[in-house]
Amino acid sequence: MKRLLAVLTVVSAALPAAAQDNGDIEAGKALIEARCAACHAIGVADKSPHPDAPAFRTLHEKYPLQNLEEALAEGIFTGHPDMPEFEATPVQIAGIIAYISSLSGN
Ligand code: HEC
Repeated sequence: MKRLLAVLTVVSAALPAAAQDNGDIEAGKALIEARCAACHAIGVADKSPHPDAPAFRTLHEKYPLQNLEEALAEGIFTGHPDMPEFEATPVQIAGIIAYISSLSGN
């Protein structure tokens, strides 16, 4: 976990600010339901099926969602135990971030 945060920090320092395209919340939600919901809580009050997987609505408390966007773009999550490799196009990532942001009310 510490290592991922360190990587996130390095990546966000190294990359130019990601393009601010407005993600499609519905598309992001559909993608998350298909690819992430098996382990993560993806709603506003549900419980993660996987005991170690953080609920998506809490992610913004740990680091800015901008970092998450860059991490997804780089495919960094491969280092997580149990977590499958995930690659997405920038448009898909924008949708995921838009959906997760909508959960936290930002
Ligand atoms: C097979 C189960 C599984 C699936 C599917 C899964 N995850 Fe995870 N994810 C985990 C687990 C377990 C953790 C906690 C790992 C840890 O604490 O080191 C985690 C952690 C995370 C974290 C937090 C990392 C951190 O350091 O706080 C993010 C962000 C995340 N996952 C995003 C996603 C996204 C986006 C998807 C769908 C594309 C996804 N996950 C799909 C199991 C999964």
